[in-house]
Amino acid sequence: MENFRLQIPTDIRFGKDRLEELPDAIAPFGKKILLTYGGGSIKQSGLYDRVLSLLNERDFTVVELSGIAPNPKIDSVRQGAALIRQHELDVILAVGGGSVIDASKVIAAAAFYDGDAWDLVLDSSKVGKALPIVDILTLAATGTEMNRGAVISNPETNEKLGTGGWELIPRVSFLDPTLTYTVPRWQTAAGAADILSHLFEQYFNRTEGVDLQDNIAEGLMKTVFKHGPIALQTPDDYTARANLLWASTLALNGLVERGRQGGWTCHAIEHELSAFYDITHGIGLAILTPRWMKHCLDTDASTHAKFAAYGRNVWGINGDNDEDVARQAVERTYQFFKEDMAIPMTLPEVGIVSKELVSRMSELAVHHGDLSGNVFVPLSVQDVESIIEASFAPMTAF
Ligand code: NZQ
Ligand code: ZN
Repeated sequence: MENFRLQIPTDIRFGKDRLEELPDAIAPFGKKILLTYGGGSIKQSGLYDRVLSLLNERDFTVVELSGIAPNPKIDSVRQGAALIRQHELDVILAVGGGSVIDASKVIAAAAFYDGDAWDLVLDSSKVGKALPIVDILTLAATGTEMNRGAVISNPETNEKLGTGGWELIPRVSFLDPTLTYTVPRWQTAAGAADILSHLFEQYFNRTEGVDLQDNIAEGLMKTVFKHGPIALQTPDDYTARANLLWASTLALNGLVERGRQGGWTCHAIEHELSAFYDITHGIGLAILTPRWMKHCLDTDASTHAKFAAYGRNVWGINGDNDEDVARQAVERTYQFFKEDMAIPMTLPEVGIVSKELVSRMSELAVHHGDLSGNVFVPLSVQDVESIIEASFAPMTAF
């Protein structure tokens, strides 16, 4: 295990019926709030009215930025930063999924930055001081509610890139499982796939002696494999929604990642799919992940033992032959996404029918994600091309 530092200042308010705490939770940061939200789900669910009535009971000033889209766009960030400057706001209240919170994080820093907000995405070292962020999370997926990262898209340049900074970690996150009851099936499935992908990206890693982190990761994976399908079948199952929500937070708050070295793979490839085709992040990950797993097994026998550990410890697959167990585990993973979570498991089913951009996206994924460097299995541009190519047809061999 490597040396590490983990400092997570987020005050988590988990559970139902806690929203009354919102005014007291936000008051220490100031009176003038930028309320950020997405395309209207919080209005349909009644959450918007609840939040405003809670804030109106006290003398908060609220300025709104609505319409933050999935795969949040840099223009929303620019608008938010302008509103903060114009109205001299003190704190951001982000209400929604990962896209709303990610955009709010970069807005918080952009308000103090003199240049264009996109600079902060291209170069995270430019992220400095930031407005405090309080959030009410409505979708279990990204882990952004307790981490320093944010992912922003620029449709003009077809780029979707991650940035981050210590100042961007939310100060208070309200995690109420009942607020995720209205998440549609598609987004519930995408969220479960995203949580699993975060765990895979950290678990399939070469650092020795991280048994504790691996055990936590396996426990979180089992939790998602158990509760994802329940949430899909019974959207208002509190236990399933609660387990998914807390799993999403713990999967990407440093608990699993710290103490290791090494980068991520499927996320870098997915970010190119989303940058060019604006597909749902978690769905892209579900499609790519089993193909990437098979690529690892086919090209690097040294990966068999770790995939076999995943098969035995998470799926309970028996057998002495690592490669057999590993390949069964990949098949289980694929079938979980396809059968249990009803995810369309090919690119044409999510609207990517042409292969004309495969080479370009592969080059950019290797470049942006440093995929030929220190990752579980380093990938060349040709390797990424073959993983994306394999995603055009259903998987029949594992
Ligand atoms: O926009 P509204 O109307 O709110 O609708 C949203 C949106 O259409 C809807 N939704 C959210 N909560 C709902 C709901 N609908 C009904 N009821 C609710 N309770 O769901 C749709 C998707 O929302 P979005 O915020 O885009 O989803 P998610 O939370 O999966 O966030 C995805 C974004 O996060 C980034 C992704 O790349 C993507 O841009 N990520 C951020 C990370 C981080 N900061 O650490 C890590 C991740 O790997 C990921 O890359
Ligand atoms: Zn993700």
